[in-house]
Amino acid sequence: MAKILVTGGAGFIGSHTRYFLEKQGHNVIVVDNLSRGYAESVPAAILRQINLKDTDRLIDLMRQEAVEAVIHFAAYISVGESTVFPELYFTNNVGATISLFNAMLETGVKKLVFSSTAAAYGIPAKVPITEDEPYAPINPYGESKVMVEKMLEWLDKYREFRAIRLRYFNACGAEPEAGLGERHDPETHLIPLILKAVQTGEPVKVFGIDYPTPDGTCIRDYIHVSDLAEAHIFAVEHLLNGGASDVFNVGTGHGKSVKEVLASVERVTGKKPPFTIGPRREGDPPSLVADSSKLQTKLGWSPKRAELDKIVADAWQFAENHR
Ligand code: UFG
Repeated sequence: MAKILVTGGAGFIGSHTRYFLEKQGHNVIVVDNLSRGYAESVPAAILRQINLKDTDRLIDLMRQEAVEAVIHFAAYISVGESTVFPELYFTNNVGATISLFNAMLETGVKKLVFSSTAAAYGIPAKVPITEDEPYAPINPYGESKVMVEKMLEWLDKYREFRAIRLRYFNACGAEPEAGLGERHDPETHLIPLILKAVQTGEPVKVFGIDYPTPDGTCIRDYIHVSDLAEAHIFAVEHLLNGGASDVFNVGTGHGKSVKEVLASVERVTGKKPPFTIGPRREGDPPSLVADSSKLQTKLGWSPKRAELDKIVADAWQFAENHR
């Protein structure tokens, strides 16, 4: 069992990963500046409120805690916001990450799992997407993640710095029994917005019904956050066992349309979610589905909660608990 530093462990995916790491017996320390995360998502004893840009404090912490590997979630994640304030994304997602890398190199901790994104592919030439699809981000958020991926390739080559880059597709769901779930402010993601529409009666807007897909709405690969969290455990254990750097998609391999998500919410909640139809949202590719067979074959991971109704049911229970 290892001592693992989780940055952004008060956020959505980070908090679930911390929970599963501890269940697995690992010793976790969380660094989060709480700018977008929630303190109540982390046991107080393991939370350190540190800004990642503070390299010296990171070095001190990593020495004191004898950290063996890092899982780096801390980042801003809103595509729309990144097109309004790109500098915020380069400062937080790239600048702060360089500070973390310097602290890691200084303390000799050279094992990292990095949160990357399907946004690295932009509008892919083929779906399902494999990891050899070229980098082609179409917004500053995606670019900020690609910049870090490229740095990691160089650090691997010249500094024996081993990293697993995980490219997430659409993270959703929750772990309601652990009090964990999705809470973004403002919320922009489809499933929590539909659930809110059911709770409040305020309609959710469907962004476009004229896409070249069977029902005209966009298709995404919705992956349960707990399956995503488990992928990090496989990744970090691979590195701790001396494994090589690599990059993996993390998705279920099954795409669902916006209309299929609405239907799932109706099945789970027993209520028809109110919705209106709006224009397309800028920058939305028609279909994004992962080919995650590489992760399954090489690391032995597989999604255990891939049914959309299971994902929606867990998200719904969390939303009802936090009404
Ligand atoms: N959608 C709506 N109405 C809404 C919100 C979303 O119709 O109010 C639609 C979108 O058009 C899209 C789908 O629901 O087709 C999913 O949208 P989300 O905003 O939930 O998620 P995205 O696919 O846009 O984004 C996700 C991650 C990003 C990541 C991206 C990778 O949240 O961080 O996948 O492509 F960059």
